[in-house]
Amino acid sequence: MSLPDKGRSTEELLAEITRLKREDLPVRGGKVTAYVYDTGRPEVHEAAARAYFEMLEVNTLDPTAFPSVVEMEKQVVGAVADLLGGGSGIFTSGGTESIMLAVKAARDARKTEGRPRMAVPVTAHPAFHKAAHYLGLVVDAVPVDPVTFRASPSDVEAAITEDTVLVVASAPSYPQGVIDPVARIAGIAAARGVPCHVDACVGGWLLPWLREAGADIPPFDLSVPGVTSLSCDLHKFGYAPKGASVVLFADPAMRRRAYFASASWPGYTVINATVQSSKSAGPLGGAWATLQALGREGYLELGRTTLAAARELRAGIAKIPGLRVLGDPESALVAFGSDGDSGGDSGGDSDGDGVDVFVLSDEARRRGWFLQPQLSYAGIPANIHITVTGVTLRGVEAMLEVIAEAVEAARERGPAKLPEGLVELVAGLDLDALDDAAFGELASAVGVDLGGSGQPEMAVVNAVLDALPADRREAILIRFLSVIYS
Ligand SMILES: Cc1ncc(COP(=O)(O)O)c(C=O)c1O
Repeated sequence: MSLPDKGRSTEELLAEITRLKREDLPVRGGKVTAYVYDTGRPEVHEAAARAYFEMLEVNTLDPTAFPSVVEMEKQVVGAVADLLGGGSGIFTSGGTESIMLAVKAARDARKTEGRPRMAVPVTAHPAFHKAAHYLGLVVDAVPVDPVTFRASPSDVEAAITEDTVLVVASAPSYPQGVIDPVARIAGIAAARGVPCHVDACVGGWLLPWLREAGADIPPFDLSVPGVTSLSCDLHKFGYAPKGASVVLFADPAMRRRAYFASASWPGYTVINATVQSSKSAGPLGGAWATLQALGREGYLELGRTTLAAARELRAGIAKIPGLRVLGDPESALVAFGSDGDSGGDSGGDSDGDGVDVFVLSDEARRRGWFLQPQLSYAGIPANIHITVTGVTLRGVEAMLEVIAEAVEAARERGPAKLPEGLVELVAGLDLDALDDAAFGELASAVGVDLGGSGQPEMAVVNAVLDALPADRREAILIRFLSVIYS
């Protein structure tokens, strides 16, 4: 874009935004089964948007200048604490920031001889790796049970060292939607004098409603002995606009470890509860309004429909020949793979009569549905992930029909065809010797258009990534990002 010489009218700008968004996936309607959370109640999203807009220009940087921020934040954090076992909290921009603050607090609460370490199940969100990367910790990866996909307490125990400052459990972990044995893991951590963080980013504002609606949900929150902090995203199952999460600490002293203040310069005094300093109070307003607009009854009703949809979806997938649901998810996240695929091979088609899930995902997308592909990792096979939300129930039959059609189409097409030698070529690439343009050209030479828009065919890209080790996948992904932004 070049900056226009003369300012443009609002109408013109909005028309341009509409044009820019033409190829975006729809954020409402339930056909996009990741990234977005739809209540199916437009008036709730409208209330959130208006409150967001109302708070847009308020800067949370200085709570003495804008007391509305303190009051609103106390109400939002208070609601989360009431539901999840108490504690004192911070409103943050998302799960990653909540986790970052929990890790910082744990690091600063305990001085270690060596580099501080964290015991993190392999199914925990990469936000822990990101926090470790930013904050100078080492991650000790903890395996999960290959059948249930839950972190094994004995492996967590084995991973704890003298320098461990934090142990992590998820409720649920994202990939298969299963809840780690929080009480046992937190008990082990407490016995060793180590804090335990429960990542309830996805489940914190979901599991209590599912429980009330009749699901069997084990205790997972701050009321569990040994749990010292917990993250809960309101921009997921709280249905708030993006930019809304809460991190809770059992001990207010631990919350202070998450804060940052600086008086080491001649400017205004800096006191920050979050990673960001200046930031809009819009997301806080949006989250506050969503909670108020839905209320207890609204969330319980959403919990009921979500539970019904998740059960119907699981039962329906189990009936589609060639597919199987992974694990026994208690939450509303459902992952399914190719039947008979025990992991490690690209797309889940080792024996020739399974279904390549990456092709399946492309076929669903052609039919207007986004089903999220997940790569194989740590012995867990490649699979498709669906986040069931409040609006899913209305379209669950249509979703199952599309999955069944996409399976048939994927069978007919066969697994993604990789040009001979492509994986070896990518694995051996000296990325530092290639600039972004050369990387883009190389990709298009093998039929992968990185600059394309519309409905991209991702099966080949996913199959190549799937065949590479994690560190190589990461290097390629970073280059991919750089190319699409060049
Ligand atoms: C379990 C879990 N933790 C953390 C996160 C990170 O959240 P965010 O994308 O809001 O930073 C996610 C996101 O999907 C998640 O599922």
